[in-house]
Amino acid sequence: FGYINYLVEKDRKYILDTLVNGLARLEYRGYDSAGLAVDGDKKKQVFAYKEVGKVAKLRALIDQEQPDMTKVFDNHCGIAHTRWATHGPPSRKNCHPHRSDPNWEFAVVHNGIITNYKELKELLSGKGFKFETETDTEAIAKLAKYIYDEHPTIDFTTLTKAVIKELQGAFGLLLKSVHFPGEVVAARKGSPLVVGVRTEKKMKVDFVDVEYAENEAALPAEQASHNVALRSNNNLLAPPDKSNLLHRSQSRAFLSDDGVPQPTEFFLSSDPSAIVEHTKKVLYLEDDDIAHIHEGQLNIHRLSKMDGTSNVRAIQTIEIELQEIMKGRFDHFMQKEIFEQPESIVNAMRGRLNVEEKTVTLGGLRQYISTIRRCRRLIFIACGTSYHSCMAVRGCFEELTDIPISVELASDFLDRQAPVFRDDTCVFVSQSGETADSLMALRYCLERGALTVGIVNVVGSSISLMTHCGVHINAGPEIGVASTKAYTSQFVCMVMFALSLSEDRASKTQRRLEIMEGLGKVSEQFKEILKMDQDVKKLCERFKDQKSMLLLGRGAQHATALEGALKIKEISYLHCEAVMSGELKHGVLALVDGQLPIVMILTRDDIFTKSLNAYQQVISRGGRPIVICNTGDKEFPGEKTDKIEVPHTVDILQGLYNVIPLQLMSYWLAINAGADVDNPRNLAKSVTVE
Ligand code: G6P
Repeated sequence: FGYINYLVEKDRKYILDTLVNGLARLEYRGYDSAGLAVDGDKKKQVFAYKEVGKVAKLRALIDQEQPDMTKVFDNHCGIAHTRWATHGPPSRKNCHPHRSDPNWEFAVVHNGIITNYKELKELLSGKGFKFETETDTEAIAKLAKYIYDEHPTIDFTTLTKAVIKELQGAFGLLLKSVHFPGEVVAARKGSPLVVGVRTEKKMKVDFVDVEYAENEAALPAEQASHNVALRSNNNLLAPPDKSNLLHRSQSRAFLSDDGVPQPTEFFLSSDPSAIVEHTKKVLYLEDDDIAHIHEGQLNIHRLSKMDGTSNVRAIQTIEIELQEIMKGRFDHFMQKEIFEQPESIVNAMRGRLNVEEKTVTLGGLRQYISTIRRCRRLIFIACGTSYHSCMAVRGCFEELTDIPISVELASDFLDRQAPVFRDDTCVFVSQSGETADSLMALRYCLERGALTVGIVNVVGSSISLMTHCGVHINAGPEIGVASTKAYTSQFVCMVMFALSLSEDRASKTQRRLEIMEGLGKVSEQFKEILKMDQDVKKLCERFKDQKSMLLLGRGAQHATALEGALKIKEISYLHCEAVMSGELKHGVLALVDGQLPIVMILTRDDIFTKSLNAYQQVISRGGRPIVICNTGDKEFPGEKTDKIEVPHTVDILQGLYNVIPLQLMSYWLAINAGADVDNPRNLAKSVTVE
């Protein structure tokens, strides 16, 4: 998160509060340590604060250090970061911002991963730099200083270009320097970055031109050659070639078409949820964009030519409301998001499903639907919960479309370098739209010429921008690290996708109608199911002090079991294994005794009798499972089993109902265990590293 004010007087208290609050909003993305850098009391001085743990601890540390809060700045840039450790354990030392030297000539915050940091570290150590941390990020700050020292007349943008030319991997980064006071450079490649703008006057422009000029002669000779010098000094880096040379781009000045600088504030963030309370005017950077903020202007430069992407970055108005990212009457975001599902599901279908007219219209797919109908194969690719939602709808696609379906974990798909063809359609399902594994799989499929579809929640995210077409699930911001409402909305959007694909199939008309009617009832039924919250809470008391648990399901309910088990593991830390009921007798049955907690999903569908076999096998080994069944099902008399009853619906949609009690169960298990529901240990909401 970054904050820059120009011609707007702000005291240090305001600047620090803005940065810390920004971090608090982003905390769900990583929360093992937090830090920030602002200007000090004297010229060329930097104050940096870093603390292990949550953002609240950073706030406490700043209070304790008592900087002069009254000092006023009318042009200032502050950068801040909340960390999810990849290289080096959480510690004050490894916490961002990282610095080039003890005087903080260059400070950087970085989201992503620099894969060639070891080579850079070795190169820079050879040039006398002393590395202080175990992070990959530190190399960025030191590289900036190295290039600056070699070329002291260089401007900040050119310097940043030279730095990022040397970086491999993924990054969203902000650079601040005592040599360029009040300026900040933001760059992205693979990790999201949004710029928010606040001005007193009405903004005169609603886009920023991006330009890239190949005319390297326009550069001062010294600047043009400096990264060549860096390379030729050390064999570790690639030899110079023309494409490695620097390029200068020009861009239209922002907010100054009349040439008069205006009071302006900029907010930089990995996620618009940290910006919405300050301004609704945002601009999403794209990969290889370098944004330079200086004297109230935003200029966007490109590191490489625009390969088919637009050379304009529109200033958009974000639609997220502040209350959407507040907890409201709930204790945790996850709880709020579970209880939001009756509405989020309606938002997924709004304007798309018309039950009366029996139509489904997905605007983002309209042009492509007939091509997708003719594809050789539909491949769904995702990670975590999003992968489970794909598993949950696989049968629905198979039944309605007769197209061969495969469902892939993005990382495994890439590990296998699975074959992909031009006539394949690859569907990328992701809440954040930024998950590194899914993004890399998307690039892989694009390279192979496949048609790509995104099913994404976050508008403007990388997956939504890079896919040919897609559907936004419109679930609203999901803050709790454990995904809940995104799962049910992804599920519903994919069912609508299958309905669209099967529109031309007369033989499916009746079935399609049945599903559409079912979809029309989901929201009301969700409200009913959520009323069982306190009953589920009570049932969970039974699991106190347990170490392990089984969750059984068959057919589409295997996906529900997988999702339920993931929820339980990730937030309550109770080991929970999802088992395909048909496989129980092939091994897992050995675990069953009178003690092991077991939850079985036994709602009625055409394989119900087979699912009952597993139930009998458990009962006859002394197990006393909790059964998720349809309301009033006589098969499970109350005196023999604990029941969680959910309404009956079309088999294809039953998983939507069955997953809710499991979400509630994971929540109460976590509360019982005293775990931090919204920020489970070792996890992050958006995993932007491989
Ligand atoms: C992380 C999160 C999971 C999420 C997965 C995929 O591991 O902790 O909750 O399901 O990433 O995220 P995506 O944003 O691609 O759906």
